[in-house]
Amino acid sequence: MRAVVCRSYGPPENLVLDDVPEPVPAPGQILVRVHTAAVNFPDVLFIEGKYQIKIPPPFIPGNEIAGEVIAAGEGAAISPGQRVAGTTFGAFAEQALLDASQAMLIPDDADFASAAAFGVTYRTAYYALRSTAAVAEGDWVVVLGAAGGVGLAAVDLAVAMKARVLAAASSPEKLELCRRRGAEATVDYDREDLKTRIRELTGDSARVVLDPVGGQYSEPALRGLARGGMFVTLGYAAGTIPTIPLNLVLLKDLYVRGMEIRTFASDYPDEAVRDDAELARLFAGGTVRPYIGARFPLSETAAALRHVAERKVLGKVVIDVA
Ligand SMILES: NC(=O)c1ccc[n+]([C@@H]2O[C@H](COP(=O)([O-])OP(=O)(O)OC[C@H]3O[C@@H](n4cnc5c(N)ncnc54)[C@H](OP(=O)(O)O)[C@@H]3O)[C@@H](O)[C@H]2O)c1
Repeated sequence: MRAVVCRSYGPPENLVLDDVPEPVPAPGQILVRVHTAAVNFPDVLFIEGKYQIKIPPPFIPGNEIAGEVIAAGEGAAISPGQRVAGTTFGAFAEQALLDASQAMLIPDDADFASAAAFGVTYRTAYYALRSTAAVAEGDWVVVLGAAGGVGLAAVDLAVAMKARVLAAASSPEKLELCRRRGAEATVDYDREDLKTRIRELTGDSARVVLDPVGGQYSEPALRGLARGGMFVTLGYAAGTIPTIPLNLVLLKDLYVRGMEIRTFASDYPDEAVRDDAELARLFAGGTVRPYIGARFPLSETAAALRHVAERKVLGKVVIDVA
């Protein structure tokens, strides 16, 4: 089968499209003919050897797929022919393995691209909104990087939870997309004073900040929170991990929390089961569907990753494999 291979750590342009052996499902696994793979920011870090987890090259990058089951390992409760989506390793390939117990059956009215693009970003955003920050109807939620993958998922889900969304991003085009998805207020944080605008636009009542960006944006966003508000750190797409003066937390009795998708289910098993079930209902009912901002063929995976690395993402970037 054809697969994108990272032979040594480096930029997207070092990736090669190669012929590799087809994977064989172990017990409990299914083999999927990949129709669509979705790109996530960490894919760029993985191939550069800069992610928290390091996969020794050579490896096939990519973590999210949707496709059709073509073989099932012993004991896998999903049969060939079914349409599934899920997270795995080796997504940027014509075939990939999934743990059957982790696979989501794709509802009839959802296409492969929506299903592939749903998993990582919507779970990240929902765990953070629902369980970490316990967002309630009417709460003001400030989302940084709001037109990106995690950001736009957070906008969609906060709107579905009837929260009030202030979307912060770096261009008029990105903010327009956030407004179309239901954000009530927007701030261009490269041209406006983020702290001041959060306070003005929310009437000094921002209860939650969701931050997948880090860098220079975190501190002003935290300063914009209302007394007793919560700052949730999710990632550092800006490339730097900010340092926050603790007196800011003390003076306004703030909460600062993190949420990590890889450890959430083991740290909070009951919440993870509940949140996954609620998310699946939101997806199946069509209440939330990811916005696909760009599509690339498998042969142009490097360009897809470059698109993400250069801050051009609107919603999700996907790779059309078949
Ligand atoms: N905690 C978790 O479990 C978890 C799960 C998934 C992802 N993450 C992390 O969340 C972050 C966002 O992931 P994503 O998939 O949503 O990424 P994405 O789609 O690329 O969005 C990232 C956003 O960050 C902003 N940004 C600011 N400076 C940037 C820069 N120098 N390069 C690229 N983007 C920049 C961009 O918005 P503006 O241009 O509007 O600033 C962009 O839309 C990543 O750090 C990722 O590792 C964490």
